Amino acid sequence: MCGIVGYVGTTGGAAAVDVVLDGLSSLEYRGYDSAGLAVPTPSLAVHKAQGELAALEGIVPRGDLAGSLTGIGHTRWSTHGAPSDVNAHPHTDEAGRVAVVHNGIIENYQRLRDDLAEAGVVFRSETDTEVVPHLIRRYLDRGVSPEAAFRRAIDQLEGSYAIAAVFEGSETVYAARQDSPLVVGFGETGTYLASDVPAFIEHTDRVCYLENGDVVRLTADGAVVTDSAGNPVDRPTETVAWDPEDAEKSGYDHYMLKEIHEQPTALRQCLRGRIDDLEGTVTLEDINGLDHDGPVQFVACGTSYHAALFGAERLRRNGMAAQAFLASEYTTDRIPVDAETLVVGVTQSGETADTLRALREAARTGATTLAVTNTVGSSAARECDHALYIRAGPEIGVAATKTFASQQLTLALLAAKLVDSSNRTALEALRDIPGQVQTVLDTSDARAVAEEFVDADGFFFIGRGYHYPVALEGALKMKEITYRHAEGFAAGELKHGPLALVTEDTPVFAVVTGDGEGARKTIGNVAEVAAREAPIVAVTDGGSDVTRYTDYVLEIPTTDDFTGSVLAATQLQLVSYWLANRLGRSIDKPRNLAKCVTVE
Ligand code: M6R
Repeated sequence: MCGIVGYVGTTGGAAAVDVVLDGLSSLEYRGYDSAGLAVPTPSLAVHKAQGELAALEGIVPRGDLAGSLTGIGHTRWSTHGAPSDVNAHPHTDEAGRVAVVHNGIIENYQRLRDDLAEAGVVFRSETDTEVVPHLIRRYLDRGVSPEAAFRRAIDQLEGSYAIAAVFEGSETVYAARQDSPLVVGFGETGTYLASDVPAFIEHTDRVCYLENGDVVRLTADGAVVTDSAGNPVDRPTETVAWDPEDAEKSGYDHYMLKEIHEQPTALRQCLRGRIDDLEGTVTLEDINGLDHDGPVQFVACGTSYHAALFGAERLRRNGMAAQAFLASEYTTDRIPVDAETLVVGVTQSGETADTLRALREAARTGATTLAVTNTVGSSAARECDHALYIRAGPEIGVAATKTFASQQLTLALLAAKLVDSSNRTALEALRDIPGQVQTVLDTSDARAVAEEFVDADGFFFIGRGYHYPVALEGALKMKEITYRHAEGFAAGELKHGPLALVTEDTPVFAVVTGDGEGARKTIGNVAEVAAREAPIVAVTDGGSDVTRYTDYVLEIPTTDDFTGSVLAATQLQLVSYWLANRLGRSIDKPRNLAKCVTVE
């Protein structure tokens, strides 16, 4: 899960070095342990540096490279070989005739490497990628054209890849895709290639998504896409509806904070045109053709898995059989799935390898598959039978925030569509969510609460029903951006073990809304925590007397449990953000993580 950028400009167009570095800065969410670029004209120049993109920017001789209109670049999240200058991409052959960048994993690289080493090739890096330029060079030495050499090398690879290459002295970029995303952009003054649209959205919104097996030749005038056998294939050109400003920080210190504050807008976009107030019904045009009343299985990872837990709970409460599975644990060998089952992949990026594998496995059994995703043209969207978009807009911060809220809301809409019940009250409640999230953002005391816990080194989050996934999500946000230990539990589980960890030094966040049975039981669990003298933060709408046990309160508007869970999630995002900010963490790019996880 790395980021790739490629560019070929027309005469008078922008310098490749500038386009590539700008593009990489939009893709750092995909990996940021090292970066590099190559320009092939007049002679092949390669620059790379360990660390975030700023390290590369510091060493690239922009002036020397200003004349070159062709280039490729890469931002890396290590799989084979530690982050280092030498393992950073691009990789070249020994003679420096070709430079290659790669996203994914070449599964048969060891065998290829052994063969090449036996033939005398001396490898410089520990990466799987380095076999590719050496293979290409082998074919060049036999006198075949760069394009043919590129194709023959690609033919030998097994695994997942998006690969781009430039050849010394040539104003052409070649690229190929297998299970890792690549999109081509067509601009007025050049042709672009990237792992994701934000890399070139400031230059063009006209794009073409490559499919598995595609090989593309980019020149200043456009792109020619062929299949692996070299036959031309027709990939439609689409216009993406992203505003370049959406992918910038707009005055916020971090993308994460910006994206938390964008939630009301994202949620309004998510709802737009989907609820018919008069009829009290939901229309989801994306999935008009989907009609299903059998069992539903959700597959997802991380934050998306927490959203999937909501989806399953919402469907069960509407009388449908539904379960959520961690995609990495999902296997049709053990989990009963057949043609009557709808398998829903919840994935912001649409490119998460674990989720794609689970969906593909489910599809093989004959199940109907549905992608609930933010990314038009993503692998999940294209491979599933149906795709439902959450419409959150681009999310750059590695920590998922607005996409989580949009997933929750989209899954509530999906549940309403599948059970086909007109329920005006429930739909009106959904319609109110964006405004209520705005109220939370305007009134939150999360920053002050975070300030109280600067020295705490362990956090617990508890909740019941819809609030259980919020507890899991609150803990995930806390650990990923503050690097402090945090765990989320179903409130009733605390006494079955985790309570042993609760002390006066472990803050406990309890999500409690309303005054129903669930709230009453959770308050009992809060009392158990209070008896161990842990500092307690209630995230509550004031519907109960939970605050008599708690030291701090994060208020949310009074509403139903489902909406309460969306609002509570916003409060917990803010607590984690402000604590991470206070601790000086790398909030948008937490250590060891990447936005899009394209390896299993
Ligand atoms: O793109 P996806 O939604 O499939 O990503 C799944 C997880 O990697 C992701 O939700 C991750 O847990 C979050 N970025 C953490 O904030």
